[in-house]
Amino acid sequence: MRDSILPATIKSAQLVLRKNDTGVFTKPGPHQYPHQWNWDSALIALGLSYFDLPRALLEIRSLLSGQWQDGMLPHVLYHGMPSDYFPHPDFWEIEKSPNAPRVQTTGITQPPILASIIRLINEKQAIPDFIREVYPRLLDWHRWLHTYRDVDKTGLVCIIHPWESGTDDSPRWLKVLEGIPIENKLTFSRGDTRHVKENERPFPQDYQRFMYLIDLFRKSSYNQAEILAQSPFVVQDVLFNAILHRANLDLQVLGAAIGENTDEIDGWIALMNANFNRRFWHDDDGLYYDFDVVAQKPIRVNTATIFLPLFAGLASQKQAKRLLKAYFNHPDYYGNNECVLYQLTSASQSLFSWDPRRYWRGPIWILMNWLIYQGLQAYGFIAEAEKLRDDSLSLILKSGFREYYDPRDGIGCGSVEFSWSAALAIDWIMQDL
Ligand code: DGY
Repeated sequence: MRDSILPATIKSAQLVLRKNDTGVFTKPGPHQYPHQWNWDSALIALGLSYFDLPRALLEIRSLLSGQWQDGMLPHVLYHGMPSDYFPHPDFWEIEKSPNAPRVQTTGITQPPILASIIRLINEKQAIPDFIREVYPRLLDWHRWLHTYRDVDKTGLVCIIHPWESGTDDSPRWLKVLEGIPIENKLTFSRGDTRHVKENERPFPQDYQRFMYLIDLFRKSSYNQAEILAQSPFVVQDVLFNAILHRANLDLQVLGAAIGENTDEIDGWIALMNANFNRRFWHDDDGLYYDFDVVAQKPIRVNTATIFLPLFAGLASQKQAKRLLKAYFNHPDYYGNNECVLYQLTSASQSLFSWDPRRYWRGPIWILMNWLIYQGLQAYGFIAEAEKLRDDSLSLILKSGFREYYDPRDGIGCGSVEFSWSAALAIDWIMQDL
């Protein structure tokens, strides 16, 4: 199948990226996501780098143009594009912050995968001048995370909104979100159910709570200390910290390559190494749980992010083996069975809230498979890694470049022509050629 079909898949993936290209940035999806999203953009740049390196670097420059003066790199840049997307730029009221940039952005961040992607691009084609140009900006962002989001000086950083996790509607947030009152409803009109079916998007009460948090941030003028002190949602997230750790390791390599002193980054890495397993690993269940900072207790919900520490090299070989045996290959959790034919469901099938077509409640995401694939490879679980890649490419061949897929029948859900599904397919296929 590979030889005959895969070159055609690369062509159609390139077409998706070209079609979503506005000239300055690439939309994650043509209708559902018409602006520039932070981690989407990094992954898109990786895909673009295989056939148009200058355009890939422009994608990254455009993203960095939204950096706040204190270093925060926002989750969305609007770039003045008119659209029916909600929340629209004015909703955020970022001008209340003295740190807001000139371009319109949201007031929260997203998983910091950018340094890792730049390292991957540099390994294919050396870009030393570009690294010199962007290194200080990357360092500022990582420093902002370690300065403003490390509440207990453990080197582990917090997120303040489910959207900062990138896994927006994950069942990990349900219990934490329950603490948010929704009696005094904010009035707004959702845009996300215009282009995608309602049963594939977040429930109304969860969306209300997403907006409640944004309202709290704008009332606090985006003052991080004030938000951390007041917000009911302050979480140390396994995925976010694993990605940050891997990004710090990659930033260290990039810094050394251009002759920079990396002592500060070395310090962040050492702290994370010392505290990650202590905080997140639960030996009784043999997996990683996020930590609710407000309640000071673990969030005991099993989702695919339990495998992310492998992407960062933070799990021991013994922990990785346990995760694989007890969960990854187990038909009650993430393994295949008579109902689930593809891997990897984004939340464990054992959860009461498992919902195979709803945003992050169960569907397969190409990005999650790609991240976990890297981790499995690094730990020597080659057969499992290959299965994730093959399942991902089969889903794409069956249903196109969709945002997510039903793990039972491979039906595509969410946005059509989803850019990172195209970009990561290019990366997977090109690595093999
Ligand atoms: C949305 O609008 O649902 C986005 O996922 C936020 O990042």
